[in-house]
Amino acid sequence: MKKIQIAVDGPASSGKSTVAKIVARDLDLIYLDTGAMYRVATLVAMQEQTQDPQVIINFIEENPISFANGPKGQEVFLGERNVTDVIRTNEVTNAVSKISAMPEIRSFLVAEQQRIAKEGGIIMDGRDIGTVVLPNAELKIFLVASVEERAERRYKENRSKGIPTDLERLKSEIAARDHKDSTRKVSPLKQAEDAVLLDSTGKSIADVVAFIETRAKRLI
Ligand code: C5P
Repeated sequence: MKKIQIAVDGPASSGKSTVAKIVARDLDLIYLDTGAMYRVATLVAMQEQTQDPQVIINFIEENPISFANGPKGQEVFLGERNVTDVIRTNEVTNAVSKISAMPEIRSFLVAEQQRIAKEGGIIMDGRDIGTVVLPNAELKIFLVASVEERAERRYKENRSKGIPTDLERLKSEIAARDHKDSTRKVSPLKQAEDAVLLDSTGKSIADVVAFIETRAKRLI
């Protein structure tokens, strides 16, 4: 079996990680959530009260980012500390675009992502996977959905976790993050020329997974 690389890019809350995790399980691939890595860098900036990329990088070098499978799914660690939940708080979410726009942070994390993906057999989700991190990935998906639908999905998810959320606020936060991620100078969110565009508005998770797996199986 060929060890392929699959890149899944797209705007915030378009369902990338949900579908990538299922495809990883079904096709026995490693799953790498690159957004989690930028979220960890943001957490470090907040806790160390710094905007200096080198301070953030030094901290992560001393306390590396790692992933492990826990009872509730993939868990994220910063050194020994389990940061799975704290990197999903609103504070981190609303600050992440600023940290992820720093060129030094990007080159540091991209090098790490490329190292992990080197052997293939991987599906990665993010914003610049098809354009920058894995330009030679065998399959590239650009997953989009309307702002309304993305906000509603996130709203339902938050409610089910008991997190109080305002739908209109969520819509404007998602739109603001999309704008920042797609207009930044370094590696903006952009569809790679050879990526397949998939609009998941009105589609089920199973539909999106089937779409990706059908294409992936032709390449394996
Ligand atoms: O995917 P997720 O929403 O967790 O990503 C959080 C943030 O990390 C994005 O809004 C973006 O600013 C940044 N990111 C990035 N490049 C990636 C993945 C995420 O800039 N490959």
